[in-house]
Amino acid sequence: MPLLLGVNIDHIATLRQARYAADLSSPNAEPCPVLAGHDAVAGGADSLTIHIRGDRRHMQDADAFRIRSELTVPLNLEMAVTEEMLGIALRLKPEFVCLVPENRQEITTEGGLDVLGGLRKIHDVVARLRDAGIRVSVFIDPELRQVDASIEVGADMIELHTGAFANATGVAEKMELDRLTVAATHAHPSLQVNAGHGINFTNISQILTIPYLAELNIGHSIIARATRVGLTVAVREMKEAMTHYLA
Ligand code: PXP
Repeated sequence: MPLLLGVNIDHIATLRQARYAADLSSPNAEPCPVLAGHDAVAGGADSLTIHIRGDRRHMQDADAFRIRSELTVPLNLEMAVTEEMLGIALRLKPEFVCLVPENRQEITTEGGLDVLGGLRKIHDVVARLRDAGIRVSVFIDPELRQVDASIEVGADMIELHTGAFANATGVAEKMELDRLTVAATHAHPSLQVNAGHGINFTNISQILTIPYLAELNIGHSIIARATRVGLTVAVREMKEAMTHYLA
């Protein structure tokens, strides 16, 4: 199986919200997340990832429903474990949901979800999503006890949080990469193993040394590159960087 790329287009909405949060119906309210979705698909995105946060700082509910109805590529909804988000997911019916922790002050998702600390609640939410035909991933730090807890709650997939690796240098970087490798090896084949956060055009070569990866979720670096070359080309470049992956 080739390694798949999910493109996170939240930052397109971040840019729009920076100017038009109070006037989203304005014809000037750009850039448009739906058009960005089309551009990402044209570049080879295998799925689109969006995160509806409790504070609606970037993607709005209406964006999600438009993306769902106008694009046929699989949709991955990142969401916190709340009744509000569960209700949205059950109406939106994305192919995948990725359960993430959410903390009001953070700039982006910081740590992984503490699946072990929330076993009962997460088990319940996973079951309700799976009953609706949605495959469920949990975004976790590369810790074996969190991998085991992810199996226990009935998740289909984990997304290994690569942020600590992306932020580390020298010996710490090597240690973080080893932790990701050990976690992926421990999870396979019970769980599909995805990875995301902080992956860029430089560290992708090290990410590709992690075994058993099925999908990467990448946002910031692709959107940043898109400001130079356009989103379609930026996605194509990342897909090319991923082509030599050997699971
Ligand atoms: N995966 C998850 C669960 C995330 O929360 C994010 C950030 O929104 C990403 C992947 C993408 O991270 P980045 O924008 O650093 O590529």
